[in-house]
Amino acid sequence: MKQDDVLKQQAYAAVENQGETVKNDPYYPGFHLAPPTGLLNDPNGWIQWNGTYHLFFQWMPFETGHGAKFWGHYTSEDLVYWKLEPIALTPSDWFDKNGCYSGSAITEGDKLKIFYTGNVKDEHNNRESYQILAESDDGISFIKKGVKIRLPENYTAHFRDPKVWSHGGSWYMVIGAQTKDERGAVVLFESKDLEEWTHRGILSHADQKPLTDLGYMWECPDLFELGGKDVLMFSPQGIEADEIHYNNKYQTGYVKGKLDYELGVYNHGTFTELDRGFEFYAPQSTLDDKGRRIVIGWMGVPDQNEKLQPTVVNGWVHQMTLPREILLKGEDLFQRPLTEMKELRINERINTTINGAISLEIERTSEVLIDGCIDSMDLFDYAKLKYEPQSRMLTLERQSYTDGKIEERSCILKDPLHHLQIFVDHSSLEIFVNRGEEVFTSRVFADPSNRILKINSQNSPGLKVWNLKSDTIKLENFKR
Ligand code: FRU
Repeated sequence: MKQDDVLKQQAYAAVENQGETVKNDPYYPGFHLAPPTGLLNDPNGWIQWNGTYHLFFQWMPFETGHGAKFWGHYTSEDLVYWKLEPIALTPSDWFDKNGCYSGSAITEGDKLKIFYTGNVKDEHNNRESYQILAESDDGISFIKKGVKIRLPENYTAHFRDPKVWSHGGSWYMVIGAQTKDERGAVVLFESKDLEEWTHRGILSHADQKPLTDLGYMWECPDLFELGGKDVLMFSPQGIEADEIHYNNKYQTGYVKGKLDYELGVYNHGTFTELDRGFEFYAPQSTLDDKGRRIVIGWMGVPDQNEKLQPTVVNGWVHQMTLPREILLKGEDLFQRPLTEMKELRINERINTTINGAISLEIERTSEVLIDGCIDSMDLFDYAKLKYEPQSRMLTLERQSYTDGKIEERSCILKDPLHHLQIFVDHSSLEIFVNRGEEVFTSRVFADPSNRILKINSQNSPGLKVWNLKSDTIKLENFKR
């Protein structure tokens, strides 16, 4: 048997053996994408192809640690209902034997093409990195076309996560990199035919003005046009925490500017974090046929006590965020739940005005909408949202899953708090603030029997709660 088939059979067997235990974990999500077993990390190859949305993901089927990654695969017709598809890529070749690492998808002719990083380590743990092309006629099975880019000079082998797009008759690719002096960077390549690639140089790096000291490695870059600007979204590693900023182990954020394609020069502004919660990393965007720029992120952070998450005992760890539309409003980047998410609503559970305080029990999959300002909100026995009107500081507190201590993440709102939309799943919260001005994304491992929501407010805001569907992800197609 070919190594590709051997690995596929092993992964299918892992899911057959462990899949039921994983699905029955009370923390397994009802409407978010998660691994059928093992560990899920970055969203990859995110694209709408022939009408269908494809989301691939970094997947370690056999354990809840990182390692020689596969590409798992979900599809959706409507961004609400998803199907787990057969495995897209296995680390079966000399150029990807230690992992089919992150990458992106494009359409060329009638093919779906993906570029990803082949991670290779030798017996002394020395790393090599290759950028690889794979193609598909049906969007399900892929044929690897081999190495298209080798490591250029001046970078370490931390060189990965190609994101490809087309512009003015050429193909462009950004790659996350580390320069030889151990600074994070994003590198630009160009190609006419997706086969031969020219190294155009560094687009931005950790000390390129106005940035200073922005880390030793930048992962998962994504460059796209939004509202007339070129936005570069990426995940830098090695930034020091600074008061309410950069408190997660690694960060994710963006800069805005203008890319001069002729010169290969990108002038941009300062770095802003994209999300204010405890778990958000490696987001990827795509443009759909409605012209929306839709982002999905990994609801996890590498090396952030991953092994201590309580789902590990049941053989799985991590999940994705919901797909979100991003928009530029003036200088500010907004993230909003897609209108399709209304399809998740089963029935309106409550529609009232909060006079002082309210306490109610909600379902484990719910949407909570507050039209107005609050002072505080207790979400189960585990998390709390607090707002200080003078400073406009909004804080999410939770009990750490590592030592039970209270930990918090905060941001200062531009506008006074006036709107909250919260998606509650079995072990996650996505809190959209002021219609997308800020988002707090976090895992929450609350006691599944405690679903009490308490809200305090002196401002008489409206409150609506819906029960949400929890059966939107089908696993039947998995094996072929
Ligand atoms: C980000 C990342 C990527 C890499 C992948 C490996 O989380 O480290 O840089 O391609 O995960 O799974």
